[in-house]
Amino acid sequence: MKKIALVTGGSKGIGSAIVNHLITLGYQVIATYNTTKPNEKIENVLFKKLDISCFDSCSKLLEELDALGLYPNILINNAGITNDAMFHKMTPESWENVINVNLRSLFNLTQPIFTRMRENKFGRIINISSINANKGQAGQVNYCASKAGTQGFTKALALEGARHGITVNTVSPGYTETDMVNKMKPEVLDSIKKSIPVGRLASVNEIAAQVGFLISDSAAYTTGANFEVNGAMYCS
Ligand code: CAA
Repeated sequence: MKKIALVTGGSKGIGSAIVNHLITLGYQVIATYNTTKPNEKIENVLFKKLDISCFDSCSKLLEELDALGLYPNILINNAGITNDAMFHKMTPESWENVINVNLRSLFNLTQPIFTRMRENKFGRIINISSINANKGQAGQVNYCASKAGTQGFTKALALEGARHGITVNTVSPGYTETDMVNKMKPEVLDSIKKSIPVGRLASVNEIAAQVGFLISDSAAYTTGANFEVNGAMYCS
């Protein structure tokens, strides 16, 4: 069976590293982006613009991929946003936006793709969560709630997929070299860096490598689990 991976948020940061890693492993990849259109063409990668929070757009993309013979049997739910503020200053829009994009959207691609995976008796689903789902982080009530929800989503779906050859796992990166982390106030980021036992941020490739293993045939028995890649910043 041809292995076709759909990576959301695949044009930058961790998503882009996952896309590049999967190509080197020989997968056909579909990478979605929302605002950052990639300006280079990459062999074996089809870039598609997608708003993951819109069910109709997700259905339309899947119809299109089906017609091209590119319906995914591997799904990496990576796209996500932050909108940090202390809770007493958090607006309803900030709360809703983060929950919508990071958590509610999980239904939109996963439900139809999971249904097809059941029919085919094979599938790999990876949901990208965060160290802060388990650790908590002041200024991120919205984000932590969405990423903890992602872990619950993973565990329940893993139970449903287990007898159908579908594995579902979470990868929870720690603080990683991305625009999302680098846009933090320098003094806040500095104090966070000091609290990482490994002494540095993760590289995006270190997160991608974990994803590469979890979608491999060797990981068929690994399901319903959360993989922390956080330099021992939080040991759950
Ligand atoms: N714990 C408890 N209280 C804290 C705190 C902490 N860690 N940090 C700050 N506070 C308190 C401050 O002491 C201050 O209290 P007073 O008003 O009583 O003095 C109050 O919170 C406000 O603090 P700030 O001055 O920092 O508030 P701000 O509005 O300027 O900034 C913030 C708020 C933007 C949330 C900022 O604190 C911040 O950036 N925090 C870190 C958030 C974070 O870690 N984001 C991760 C982004 S990357 C990511 O999310 C990827 C991933 O998966 C890891």
